[in-house]
Amino acid sequence: MSTNGNAARVVDARKIYGEGDAEVRALDGISEEFPSGQFTAIMGPSGSGKSTLLQTMAGLDQLTSGQAWLGDTEITGLSEKKLTRVRRDKVGFIFQAYNLVPTLTVEENITLPMDIARVKPDKEWIATVVDAVGMSDRLDHRPSELSGGQQQRAAVARALGSRPDIIFADEPTGALDSTTGAEMLGFMKRAVDEFGQTVVMVTHDPNSASYADRVLFLLDGKVADRMEGPTADTVLDRMKTLGD
Ligand SMILES: Nc1ncnc2c1ncn2[C@@H]1O[C@H](COP(=O)(O)OP(=O)(O)O)[C@@H](O)[C@H]1O
Ligand SMILES: [Mg+2]
Repeated sequence: MSTNGNAARVVDARKIYGEGDAEVRALDGISEEFPSGQFTAIMGPSGSGKSTLLQTMAGLDQLTSGQAWLGDTEITGLSEKKLTRVRRDKVGFIFQAYNLVPTLTVEENITLPMDIARVKPDKEWIATVVDAVGMSDRLDHRPSELSGGQQQRAAVARALGSRPDIIFADEPTGALDSTTGAEMLGFMKRAVDEFGQTVVMVTHDPNSASYADRVLFLLDGKVADRMEGPTADTVLDRMKTLGD
């Protein structure tokens, strides 16, 4: 965890794709802090830079200019080898494509990141996480034997399994029915409130955003607004006038 209390931070983050007429400023100078133990939702129209912000903060992609930290570690300009280590030690990911390994059981999928890192899984913690996502009786199943919602829950358990400082989620409930989605969001909120983890989640859904402590609204690669203590209604209202 970071001494300045931030799980992640970016300063004047810019990401430019292409050149000349084809230039796209996916991130156009974003400075933002993501305090430890907070749940932040990132919203904004399609193409506003949400996924790019998440990927560059998570060290999956490099900024064109500016700086990014995960905890105390500046990740800007780190070698791929060092970056891999930082990601492994600090970061959990939940993407819409769950990236479960089809030949492994749920349990093996959950411990895979720790096995790769040669870290001994904390069995008690993993049991807590697995129980919380309601997958205790599915540990021996393979992904093909699970529903979409169950695969998603396994992916959440995997993301939380190594107790990462920060979890990045890109539209994690996008493929789920509303009941399963609500369960998932409730669990991510618990991870923050009870386990002190930090979550940064991209979503286009005001109801999903209402689970967060704070919403960051992006527009054209810039922070257009911030909202504390969002409700579905206040988020929806703000979205209607975001481009005005
Ligand atoms: N690999 C890429 N190459 C070129 N342009 C990209 C690439 N990735 C994203 N972009 C562009 O950057 C902008 C922001 O994209 P993205 O971060 O995916 O937005 P969002 O997640 O908010 O929909 C968009 O205009 C998109 O087309
Ligand atoms: Mg996106």
